[in-house]
This record gives sequence, structure tokens and C-alpha cells, in this order.
Amino acid sequence: MIPNNLTNRTAIVTGAAQGIGKAIASRLANAGARVAIADLNLDMARETARQIRADAFALLLDVANAESAQNAVDACLNAWGRIDILINNAGIIGRGLPVKDLTERDWDQVLDINLKGTFLCSRAVLPPMLAQKKGAIVSVASIAGKEGNPSMTHYAVSKAGVICFTKSLAKEHIHDNIRVNCVSPALIETPLLANVKAEQLEYMTSKIPLGRLGQPEEVAEVVHFLASDDASFVTGQCYDISGGRATY
Ligand SMILES: NC(=O)c1ccc[n+]([C@@H]2O[C@H](COP(=O)([O-])OP(=O)(O)OC[C@H]3O[C@@H](n4cnc5c(N)ncnc54)[C@H](O)[C@@H]3O)[C@@H](O)[C@H]2O)c1
Repeated sequence: MIPNNLTNRTAIVTGAAQGIGKAIASRLANAGARVAIADLNLDMARETARQIRADAFALLLDVANAESAQNAVDACLNAWGRIDILINNAGIIGRGLPVKDLTERDWDQVLDINLKGTFLCSRAVLPPMLAQKKGAIVSVASIAGKEGNPSMTHYAVSKAGVICFTKSLAKEHIHDNIRVNCVSPALIETPLLANVKAEQLEYMTSKIPLGRLGQPEEVAEVVHFLASDDASFVTGQCYDISGGRATY
């Protein structure tokens, strides 16, 4: 058996136009999957799809919008007839501010995309996964969701929510052959970090025992495993990709 083989599997990767999502989509496509690059930035998603594989396609998706999530899933069902894998990757970091300075809008924006988006996209793929009696959902949380980071409370809370959502949904579908897992990366070198202040980056890097930033491909490798049948006895878990930062 070829390890982590995804031949003929279909996968939606949210926020896949760049960064970690792009690395995940590439990795799944290289393993044989047909992938949809679903992103708010359609132009970049198209370019990414073109680079990845001839049968990859781009979709406009705002994960925070229920109708948009449903439309994206419907488009994939029309194209493929089934959805084997959902990767909830789209996320934003928001403004780095202490709680006393956070606006309601700051809070809502981050929670809507990172947490509600994970709920909306997962909810939309469940009916086809239940009908086909098989599915794998992998969400990209963050080490911030386990440990908390100062001046990133809204982000950390959203990712803690993703971890708990993962555990709850996994239990809900434990007898449906739908596995639900997530990963919690520490600092990964992507465009997302462009909005993080230098001292915040230094603080977060200093917390990583391996002493370096992670690479998007290092996240993609773990996500690929969790999405594949090689992880058939793994559900409701949060895998660390944190260079040794997490102690549990
Ligand atoms: N980079 C890190 O250090 C790091 C660490 C831990 C977790 N993460 C998580 O990994 C995921 C990917 O992060 P990244 O570093 O690749 O970020 P990134 O900013 O490089 O890419 C995020 C992608 O998501 C898309 N996106 C944003 N809002 C969207 C929406 N509403 N609907 C659909 N797409 C949307 C963007 O257009 C972009 O293509 C995020 O959930 C992030 O929180 C990142």
C-alpha cells in the first residue's frame, strides 16, 4: 500500500490561495486527490490551482458566510459527486492588541472567520459525508488556542474554539465513519505573519524549543496524514506542530 494515498479522493481546502493552505492543497494533490482551492481571493486561488494540478479548481469562498460555504460545497458536489476531505484552514490573525483596546469589530471579525467559518464549512460537508458514509475533516487551529498569547486573545480564543469544536464533532460522528481532527501549529513562515509586530514575533519564536519558525510544508505533512486512511483510528485529536512548544 502506498502510504497516505489519496488517489480519487476529493478535497476542499479553505484559504488555500497562499501560505499553509496552499502547501496543504499541493500536498494532497501530489498524493492523488482532486482539490478545490477555496478562498476569498479568487484571482490568487486561480493562480494557485493552475500551479497545483490540471484538475484543481478555484472557488470564491467567504468561510464566515453560510451561503458562500454552502455554494462552495454545492459546486464541489456538482463537479465531483462526493466530498471526501475538508480542510478548514482559512484564518486571520486580527489586530495585535491587549483586551482593553480590542473593539467589538476586532473580536467579531476574528471569531467569525476562524471559528464560525470552521463550523459553517463543516456543517455544509456533513450531509454528503453522511450519505457516502465516509469523510475526514481536519482544521488548522493554533498553539495559541492551547496556551493563549498576550495581545492575541481574540485569535487564541477562536483557535481554542476550533480545538473544542473538533473534539465535539468527532464524538458526534464517531459511528458515521467521519473522522474529525485538528492541528495546532506554532509560528509558521507565511504571509500571515506580515501583520504581526516584530516584538510579538520575537516573543512567539522564543517560546519554540526547536528555535526556529516552521514551514508550511511541515504542517501539510501532518494534515495529509490525518486526512488519509492511514489515520483511520485517529479522531477528535489535536496534533501539535509546534517545534516542541506544547507540553500536552
Ligand atoms: N502562520 C502561522 O504562524 C500560523 C500558526 C498557527 C496557525 N495558523 C493558522 O493557519 C491558517 C493559515 O494561515 P497562513 O499563515 O497560511 O495565513 P495566510 O494569511 O498566509 O493565508 C490565509 C488564506 O486565507 C484566506 N482567507 C482569509 N479570510 C478568508 C475568508 N473569510 N474566507 C476564505 N478565505 C479566507 C486568505 O485570502 C489567504 O489566502 C490560519 O487558520 C492560521 O490561523 C497559522
